[in-house]
Amino acid sequence: MDALTLLHDRSSMGKLGAPAPDAGQLEVIYQAALRAPDHKELRPWRFIEFSGEGRERLGELYAEAEFQADPDATDATLNSARKKPLRAPMIIAVIAKVSPDVPGVPKLEQVLSAGCAAHGILLAAHAQGLGAMWRTGKYAFDKVVHKGLGLSENDELVGFLYLGTLGGRHKPVAVHATADFVERWG
Ligand SMILES: Cc1cc2nc3c(=O)[nH]c(=O)nc-3n(C[C@H](O)[C@H](O)[C@H](O)COP(=O)(O)O)c2cc1C
Repeated sequence: MDALTLLHDRSSMGKLGAPAPDAGQLEVIYQAALRAPDHKELRPWRFIEFSGEGRERLGELYAEAEFQADPDATDATLNSARKKPLRAPMIIAVIAKVSPDVPGVPKLEQVLSAGCAAHGILLAAHAQGLGAMWRTGKYAFDKVVHKGLGLSENDELVGFLYLGTLGGRHKPVAVHATADFVERWG
């Protein structure tokens, strides 16, 4: 697949089955992430890979977040939280590891850099015929989850990237008119 076809045709896949990406595919994926634009080479990234029972540990963290938010949360609510990470054989949490007070590189730039790393992961997964989907949801912004994953005060959880084998067909890619988004100061 050539680079422009990849950029134009990348598509998310919510239905993801086993197997998870193998070690070789993951190395390609992480190398793509590590090529994200990076002001002052701060490397403001941290990736946590969840597979197998690791997904259950993440689910327990989600359930703990529900319980801390509402100690009267029902078993159905807690179990629903526990099951969320089981929607794919692998999840990569992308964290913006923010260095505060770096002159000229405000937090926004470091978070954007982590977002670019996440996009690199999606692109490298798609290029290898894998399925991937970027998800956040409330747990990405939850303090209990942040603490459990070891985020520092300035860090941000940019997304949970669900990865696996395609479980269906990609929906057709929407084609947008550039004129709707582009202004030209000629
Ligand atoms: C930061 C971010 C967070 C997202 N979180 C969710 C989410 O929690 N749930 C969801 O269904 N889609 C979420 N999406 C959207 C999907 O990842 C996907 O981009 C969207 O369904 C459009 O599909 P496409 O990527 O094939 O165009 C998120 C996208 C971004 C960029």
